[in-house]
Amino acid sequence: MNEAAWERVASLSELEGQERLSVIIDDLPAVLIRYDDKYYAIEDVCTHDGQPLTDGPVENGTIECPRHGARFDLKSGAALCMPATQPIQTFDLEFRDDEIYARPSQSDNSQQASFATTSTPTAAASEPTAAETSEANTEVAPAASSSETSSDAPMVGAMLDSLKQVIDPELFVNIVDLGLVYDITEENNDVVVTMTLTSPSCPAGPQIVAQARDAITAMPGVNNAEIKLTMSPPWGPEMMTDDAKDQLGIF
Ligand code: FES
Repeated sequence: MNEAAWERVASLSELEGQERLSVIIDDLPAVLIRYDDKYYAIEDVCTHDGQPLTDGPVENGTIECPRHGARFDLKSGAALCMPATQPIQTFDLEFRDDEIYARPSQSDNSQQASFATTSTPTAAASEPTAAETSEANTEVAPAASSSETSSDAPMVGAMLDSLKQVIDPELFVNIVDLGLVYDITEENNDVVVTMTLTSPSCPAGPQIVAQARDAITAMPGVNNAEIKLTMSPPWGPEMMTDDAKDQLGIF
C-alpha cells in the first residue's frame, strides 16, 4: 500500500498553552492532542453516532466521547467500549522545526475491538515522546481486554447486528439504536450482554431480555448468552442514535 503524503497541519506554537487543536487532515476533521508530553492526532468524529470528540475527556491514553461515553485509544484509534464498535482514524505525526505534519496512519486498526468493562489502555511508557523523536502515533496498540475472544465466536459488530432484530414493542425501534445495549463481552464462547431498559418499570422488559438472549444464543459460535440488566447509568433519549431519533420524530 502506498503511503499517503505528509501535509502540514499546524505549527507547534499554535498548540502552545492548550492541549487540543482542531485541524483538517486529509480532508477529515481531526484534533491534535497533547497528552502526557506526547502528541496524537485522531479523527474528530465518534464512530458510534458522529459526535465530535474534541471536548471528550482524555485519560490513560484514551479519549471518551462526550455524548454516550464510548472510549477510543488515542494511539491506535481502537474502540475500547460500547456503544462504539468501530475504530476512529488516527494519523501519523512528524515534526519539522516548528511545523507539524500529518498523514493517515496505515496501521491496521480496522478490527473491531474486544470489549470488557475493565479494559485498560495501552501503557504509554513504551511510546516515543514528541521531544525524543520526530514521529508519534506510528505503532499499533491493540485494544485492551480482560476477556479472551475465541476465534470461532462472533465479533461484537455481528452480535450488535443480531441484537438489532430485537425491537422495543412500545417504541418500535431496535434496542441497539435505542442505546439500550451498554456492553458485550465474550469468553470461551459464553457471551454476556449488559443492557438497560428505557425505565425500570418497562412492562416489555422480560420480553426484550428474552429476545436479546435468543438473538445471541442463535448465533454460530455462541454456547451461552447471559443478559445482565443494569439501571446505571439510567437510559435517556440522548443515548439514541440519530436513526432512532428520526424514527421517533425527535429533532
Ligand atoms: S456518539 Fe459517541 S458514543 Fe454515541
